[in-house]
Amino acid sequence: MVLRAALLTASRNAGVRRLVETAPVSRDVVRRFVAGTSVDDAVRVTSDLAAAGLTVSLDHLGEDTTEIGHADATTKAYVTLLRRLGDLGLAAGAEVSVKLSAVGQALDESLALDNARAVCEAAAAASTTVTIDMEDHTTTDSTLGIVRDLRRDFPSTGAVLQAYLRRTEADCRDLAVEGSRIRLCKGAYKEPESVAYQSRSDVDRSYVRCLRTLVDGPGYPMFATHDPRLVKIADMLVRRAGRAKGSYEFQMLYGIRPHEQLRLAGAGETVRIYVPYGDEWYGYLMRRLAERPANIGFFLRAVLSKT
Ligand code: FDA
Repeated sequence: MVLRAALLTASRNAGVRRLVETAPVSRDVVRRFVAGTSVDDAVRVTSDLAAAGLTVSLDHLGEDTTEIGHADATTKAYVTLLRRLGDLGLAAGAEVSVKLSAVGQALDESLALDNARAVCEAAAAASTTVTIDMEDHTTTDSTLGIVRDLRRDFPSTGAVLQAYLRRTEADCRDLAVEGSRIRLCKGAYKEPESVAYQSRSDVDRSYVRCLRTLVDGPGYPMFATHDPRLVKIADMLVRRAGRAKGSYEFQMLYGIRPHEQLRLAGAGETVRIYVPYGDEWYGYLMRRLAERPANIGFFLRAVLSKT
């Protein structure tokens, strides 16, 4: 827990960021979790995953922007990506995930809404959808408000709920409505006890309660977890509810439990892989390291092998 907290604090520290980004090792470690830096890399990995029977949600890496130019550039990157996916006939199995902090949420909510709307328009033109990622708890209300606005014109826009937040059970009840696409994850940020469960078992129990609400509701639940126990429980709940395959999906991160991803797809499940690409991998990588001590070993081994 101490290590996790330290890594999550480091994920937002500019000094540590410079250090890690310039370490000779970084590229090797990053490659395990990130498709590459360019649109070509994103398209190549999407095409490979599609050939393996998997669907994709692409994330143009970046977050916490405080410059309008940067927010605009991120928006344009998504529009370019979506055009490419459409032109190549890959959009049916590939949507995009957008962090509002990357398109200007910290500067001005209406800027983030306009930029997210531009991404949704490009997604609609390519006949695919957008899911709005969830960031730290200070942004939850703003993010859900923007998702609500986007859904007026783009009803399939997905929202993300984090089981570690105490409020999430109630949010599940509010959002589990007809046509609503909800990704349920545990949550990846460092949050205070006042708003978030701190122990693994409390988070897992909350995840199961939220699963029940989403599976029993009329929406389209997206189970974003690698946790074998939770995957089993989700599977059991959808069967018990008599849900048809394709009326929900499993989601996992690129590079994490790839065999399980293929096993589920082989069993006829819809499995979506979250594929990040781009230069700004630092925050994403640090959250992945914080999730699993074995990844830190992997990171350190890579550092030592280069020194
Ligand atoms: P947990 O961390 O308990 O892991 C269970 C098991 O999975 C581990 O024992 C290990 O086997 C494997 N595993 C998990 N993480 C691993 C890793 N990094 N490396 C190697 N093995 C690993 N969060 C958020 O706050 N906002 C968001 O918008 C999203 N979006 C999102 C999309 C998708 C598709 C996924 C899968 C996840 C997210 N997340 C997220 C991240 C999520 O909140 C959570 O931090 C991670 O999924 C890890 O939690 P698990 O449920 O996998 O369980």
